[in-house]
Amino acid sequence: MQMQFRGVKLYAMIVILSVAGGLSAGDAVAEGAEVSAGKAEFLTHKCNLCHAVPAAEIDAKTKSEKLKGPALGGAIEADFGVFAAYVRKQGELDGKAHKKEFKGTDEELKAILDWLAEFEPAESSAPSP
Ligand code: HEC
Repeated sequence: MQMQFRGVKLYAMIVILSVAGGLSAGDAVAEGAEVSAGKAEFLTHKCNLCHAVPAAEIDAKTKSEKLKGPALGGAIEADFGVFAAYVRKQGELDGKAHKKEFKGTDEELKAILDWLAEFEPAESSAPSP
């Protein structure tokens, strides 16, 4: 009985707290959704065919060392516009073209980058030239 009473009280407190902090709690949920959306986009656009994300325990699917890109994780250093052009094969990054053309939207790409930025930079597993 005692326990149950406490449970009810705790529940009431949580309700009060979440109403009081309604706005920030909502923001946190939206942020969380965005991050997992980034992972979903990463998989939907098959970035994991060539890129591992070790921090998220995602392996590169290809066995081909020629196709394989560097392991990803951490924020992308390039400017978003430059990077977007690069993955769309409309531009180069450090004088190199991307292997695969990204056909999604800027929002999808941003979600992917936001998600990657959550991690510590990955140690590159790119084959040395
Ligand atoms: C067919 C294989 C392939 C696919 C699919 C692919 N990539 Fe890549 N990616 C590469 C390769 C290879 C490189 C390295 C290019 C180079 O340095 O010559 C690269 C480079 C990159 C880089 C730069 C990494 C660095 O440290 O310079 C990023 C970021 C990146 N890819 C993100 C993505 C994202 C996001 C997707 C999905 C939308 C994707 N890639 C899909 C092969 C692929």
